[in-house]
Amino acid sequence: NSMLLWQRTSFHFQPEKNWMNGVDRNPYLIVLLFFSFLFKYYPDGELLLLTVGAGPMYYKGWYHLFYQYNPDSAVWGNITWGHAVSKDLVHWLYLPIAMVPDHWYDANGVWTGSATLLPHGRLAMLYTGSTLESVQVQNLAFPADPDDQLLLDWVKAESNPVVVPPPGVGAKDFRDPTTAWYVAAEGAWFVAIGSKNDTLRRHSGIVLVYKTVDFIQYELLPGVLHAVDGTGMWECVDFFPVATEVATGLDTSEPAGPGVKHVLKASLDDDKHDYYAIGTYNAALNAWEPDEPEKDVGVGLRYDYGKFYASKTFFDPLKKRRVLWGWIGETDSERTDLTKGWASLQALPRTVLFDQKTGSSLLQWPVDEVDKLRLTKNNLGSISLAAGSVLPLDVGTATQLDIVAEFALNYSASANANEADVGYNCSTSGGAASRGVLGPFGFLVLADQNRSSVASDLVKRVYGSIVPVLDAETLTLRIVVDHSIVESFAQGGRTCITSRVYPTRAIYGAARLFLFNNATGVDVACKSLTVWQMNSAFIRPFDSRLDSS
Ligand code: FRU
Repeated sequence: NSMLLWQRTSFHFQPEKNWMNGVDRNPYLIVLLFFSFLFKYYPDGELLLLTVGAGPMYYKGWYHLFYQYNPDSAVWGNITWGHAVSKDLVHWLYLPIAMVPDHWYDANGVWTGSATLLPHGRLAMLYTGSTLESVQVQNLAFPADPDDQLLLDWVKAESNPVVVPPPGVGAKDFRDPTTAWYVAAEGAWFVAIGSKNDTLRRHSGIVLVYKTVDFIQYELLPGVLHAVDGTGMWECVDFFPVATEVATGLDTSEPAGPGVKHVLKASLDDDKHDYYAIGTYNAALNAWEPDEPEKDVGVGLRYDYGKFYASKTFFDPLKKRRVLWGWIGETDSERTDLTKGWASLQALPRTVLFDQKTGSSLLQWPVDEVDKLRLTKNNLGSISLAAGSVLPLDVGTATQLDIVAEFALNYSASANANEADVGYNCSTSGGAASRGVLGPFGFLVLADQNRSSVASDLVKRVYGSIVPVLDAETLTLRIVVDHSIVESFAQGGRTCITSRVYPTRAIYGAARLFLFNNATGVDVACKSLTVWQMNSAFIRPFDSRLDSS
């Protein structure tokens, strides 16, 4: 079915369909090993559910992505660790499955984990296992051969599980250990694990912290690192330092101090969104407090106001940056996913920085390497858009695009911007087709007319949020389009929105790009507009002939 085929993306990471078909041409040892490995566990080796990024990292020249992966079907289940490597976070090589459920302590799934790079190049991987009885425990794994840059084989520790749910914590509410950070004053590593507390507190999301010296023995620190009532189970907790005065990433073990704040992020199981807050960490007290209590984790800022979940960051020592990976699910039906034979993508990896201008948010931006995919550049100059207009843009094929635009608004005399008009509500409005005094205005992507999809069986929610545009700033927007995903970054990534789209008519050559202004009272000028065609990335099975290092 060409419509479903079209939905596969060209430069976003997603698992390959029919993986086994992709390897039988290959005569090389690594791939043959992989073949027998895969065959052993999955005789019918079809791919396919890609969920949470588990333990992304940089190791000996390669970026590694481990992901929650169902080798048998396009729906969640039988969770293993899929594995891929890249030299640039854009082009990827699929590797054999890294870990499968093969012990009592992970029989129901090798769930999310995180890697910690230890001194002398050693590597500790902590992950959650769902046991035979579906108890969530934490396990330790390490590379079978630390000299293998590809980290193909993993050994699970003899002493697993290394951490079990402590008293008072639900057996099914204890998962996703973070990358550990080193606390020099204690001479120990600290690891955070998300949970919830329905007894003492009111349905609060909580973070427990464990102290370890050897990654085998763990001591639960008193109290919780943080808790927020009403937010429920916190999945995929992430905890990392950000530099407040320089635009550079920090190692996870960078201590709190002048010029350093700590970000706490949780994926809320209740509402399936990733929330973060910026605050102050005190290791000695095992406490983290948000700078602004009204913007606490789960009630304040989100990484993304669209479809984006279970994300994790890692520190890239090569480029001194912190990189965020987010899991982008499908918003079509499970039935369609099964027909397509695949489900889910990874968002473009994003560099995360502290927003020095607002002082109260993060900036997320596609890693620079994404720019290497830019092909033909269309400089469309400056364009005025009278209230009520829709303008087709001549940019050629419009299925893989990178759009960068800067807007200026000119309020007409009739635009009496009273509160009611300003309060445009994304969840109750009709989206781009609705009209108000101040908007909406912007781009229609993957469209052949005003509305892009006539498909049924889809979630067609209108996503939206507010982006602060400070004095002396103009409104800027970057939108990356790749077949069935659209990622938008406003004000350099101060507010981001990712959406899955499943057009039925605006596909292949019929997909077009429009500028529109549905405001009744504002003339909008697109002061500058640049649109690039985007190349496809190479994302395919590993071939040892490609390993130049
Ligand atoms: C997030 C999550 C994690 C868990 C994993 C299981 O969606 O539920 O909490 O480790 O997925 O696949």
